[in-house]
Formats: sequence, structure tokens, C-alpha cells
Amino acid sequence: GWAQNTIRFAPQNDTVIISRHIYGHFAEHLGRCIYDGIYVGESNTKIPNTNGVRNDIIAALRKLNIPNLRWPGGCFADTYHWKDGVGPKTERPEIVNMWWGGVTEDNSFGTHDFLNLCEVLGAEPYLAGNVGSGEVQELADWVQYVNFEGTSPMSNMRRDNGRDKSWNVKFWGVGNEAWGCGGNMTADYYADVYRKYATFMSNWNDKELYRIASGASGDDYNWTETLMKKIPKNLVKGLALHYYTVVDWNNKGKATNFTDEEYFNTMKASWFMNEQIEKHSEIMDKYDPKKEIALVVDEWGAWYDTDPADNKGVLYQQNTMRDAIIAGMNLNIFNNHAERVKMANLAQAVNVLQAVILTDGEKMLLTPTYHVMEMYKVHQDATLVPLEVNSANFTYKAESIPAVTASASIKDGKTHISLVNVDNKVSQTITIPTNKKYKKVSGRILTSKDMNDHNTFANPEIIKPEIFHDMKLKAEELTVKIPPFSVVVLEIE
Ligand code: AHR
Repeated sequence: GWAQNTIRFAPQNDTVIISRHIYGHFAEHLGRCIYDGIYVGESNTKIPNTNGVRNDIIAALRKLNIPNLRWPGGCFADTYHWKDGVGPKTERPEIVNMWWGGVTEDNSFGTHDFLNLCEVLGAEPYLAGNVGSGEVQELADWVQYVNFEGTSPMSNMRRDNGRDKSWNVKFWGVGNEAWGCGGNMTADYYADVYRKYATFMSNWNDKELYRIASGASGDDYNWTETLMKKIPKNLVKGLALHYYTVVDWNNKGKATNFTDEEYFNTMKASWFMNEQIEKHSEIMDKYDPKKEIALVVDEWGAWYDTDPADNKGVLYQQNTMRDAIIAGMNLNIFNNHAERVKMANLAQAVNVLQAVILTDGEKMLLTPTYHVMEMYKVHQDATLVPLEVNSANFTYKAESIPAVTASASIKDGKTHISLVNVDNKVSQTITIPTNKKYKKVSGRILTSKDMNDHNTFANPEIIKPEIFHDMKLKAEELTVKIPPFSVVVLEIE
């Protein structure tokens, strides 16, 4: 046995890269994510923007090195007709957002707006196709419209609408939550539907599409098994997984002013991600031992009740230190499973669920979750350094989960270790044997006085990363002391 709160570098067999796409985001037509969030329109606004997209949001997302952005949903994707969102804005038909608030949208933010935004961000677009209420032809046309270089009905229409070059969109979702809002299909039925749609979504210009199947809801392992069994390998690059951190769907609890008990239960629910990834991976291993098909966690994050007093939009929620811990813990889980998890999308980017950015009129703030994403960006496309973590327990009443989660990577000779102390009461002293390998260490920390702390529009910098000092690098080991509910990223050389 070895002492509690020891982290060892595990022997490394193969080189595994932590795909930068694990650090992806998601923007749905939902509440104030797109309209009155990312997109404020070209006219009638005092907010500085580029083609209607807020400049402050562009700058903040660029700072995260946002690798990809998923759009237009979510459930919305299976109701969306892309042709209504191209061409002159004044002539676009309206759409009623049936899943989210029944609001009427004017389709002023469409395919060109989204794909041009991705170019400005330097992010890869990830388009979710309409399989639920659309037709095969409609989705095949969308692929041709955005990707075909030559002369064709769709690429000509794109040129008429002002865009000469194709965007070459690689990532495509073939429907969303096919087991639910995407059509309430069975796994068997969806697998057949998938095969048909995926066939007609062509690889134009010799570039192979990265087709992603609508995957399991949480621990529905049968869904994964059926898809792996029924979908031929040449038609699929990724299987999605949606798992939200929710304690009870009928009583999700408040985003702020939560109790110790709610905090523990939230962390326990969030830690369940680890088991689910392991079990889905085990099933995938049976059919795909070389790990050629990725697990794509394209919806994850915390989902709370909207506080009636804080109701700025559908699924709008504040974001506290608790959310920062959830982000740090889940990103550690994804990093450690980088062999199979090659992409993930936090739900959602702006003003919805576990957002990295909140806006209120002209004001904008960065949430604690944003800062975790920013601190962790060092892991993007770095080589995974596998760890063995022997954590102390975080115990509440009769239950416990690991108090410390960690992941590490190396790039350009620098090793980064991200540590999360999930325990909201007890600080952790962690020992990392180093075998004289390192000469210097530095780090940053995200924490606060109270776990309920959050950034507000009046005071947007209550929580932000600070320089971390509580560590000692000796000849044989590194010792680090991290306070309750904190996220630390170390750089060692
Ligand atoms: O992210 C909010 C919703 O959660 C998405 O639209 C849907 O896919 C999921 O149920």
C-alpha cells in the first residue's frame, strides 16, 4: 500500500494525445445563448460587434483556444431547417422554437453567421443535423452547401449568398438525442436511420466527414452496444454521450445558496461520469479494440433549477465555485480517458446551463467555469501523462467519493498537473514523487472564501485565478497543499 493523497506517474506504454477537442463548447438556439447572448445583431445595438457577434465574447472565447463549437442544438437541431437561415435576412421565414419557450425567432443567425463566427474564433464548427423532423435530402443538401467546392445546385446557392469558398465542415452530428427529443426512437431503429443519413452525407473535396452518432443518455449501455453492433465502422467516427450533473430531475436545486448536502450530492452525481465513461468504453472496446471510434461527450455540465428571481432566460443559471469543481473534475476524467474520449462539449457557452460566459445587456462576465477552462487549456493536444492517484475520501454522512482528482500532460518539455480538491471542508496535502526529475514548479489556483461565491455583473472578479504558492519541490518529491473546493494547475520543468 501507499500513503493517502499520493499521486504517482504511472508507467506509460503508448503515447496518447489529449485531443484539444475535449475542450469544446456548445451553442444552441435556447434562451439567451444565441439571440441576446452571442448574437446581438448588426444594427440597433450599442454593443460592439463583428457581423452581429459581440466582440467581448469573441475575445473571451479566443482566449480559451476554443477548439470547436457545436450548433444549432441540442433538441433545437432536430427542428431546424437550415435553408430558412440563409439568404437576405429580411426575407428569411420565422421559426417557433418549440422546445425552448415557444419563442419566435427570425432566423437572422444562420449557417453563414455561425460558420463565419467559427472562422473568427479559429474553432472547428460541429454541425448537428436534423434527423428527427428533417429529410435525408435536406441534410445531404446542407453538407453540399457548406462543403462542395465545384459547381452544384447547393454550392451555387452558397455563392449567391456571398460565400465563394466552402467551409469544409468536418464534424457532423447525425441527429441529437434520438432516444428523446430527437424522435423517441429505439436504439435498433435509430441505428438503421443513422446508416441511411450517414450514407447521403457525402465526403466532398476528398475530405472525410467525422460523423457522430447520437449516443447514449447517461448509463444506457444497451444504446452503445446496439450502435456499435449495427453501424458499420466506415460510416461512423464518434458515438455521443450526454450526461448532465443533476441530483434529481424533478428537483434540481438552486444554482446558488446550496447546502453542504446538496454540494456533496452534486459532486457524487458528477463523479458518476467516470464510471459511465469506463463502462461505455468497455463495450466499445469489444467492437473496436483499436479505439478508432471516439466517445464524444457532446453535452455535459451542471443543470439546476432556474431561480425565479434570476430568470433572465430559459435555462439561465448562475455559476459558483461548485461549478468550477465540476468542470475541473470532469475535464480530469476526460483527459485520463483521452484514448477513447476525443471530444466533449460543455453545455452551454453563453447564458445557458453551466455557461462560461454570462451577459446582461452590455455587461458580460466570465464564470468560475470559464477560468477552469482557461487554466486547463495547457492540456490541449498535449501528451497524456498517466497518473495513479490514491486519494483521501470526501465523506458526507455514510457516503464518500474521492476527494482529489488529477490529470497530467506534457508539451514542449513542460509537465502540467491539474488537481481538484472536491472536499468542501478539508484541505489536502498531496505528495508527488518526482525522482529528481524536476527543477522548478509554478502554479495557479482558483478558489474563494465560500463555495457559494460567484461572479456578478456588479462584481465580476470575485473568483479569478491567482498565483499558487503552497508547494515545495524537494529532491525526491513535490508536496502541494490545496484548500477545500479548489482547482490548481501546476507547471513543472
Ligand atoms: O442542453 C440543453 C438540452 O439538453 C439539449 O437541447 C438537449 O440535447 C439536452 O436534453
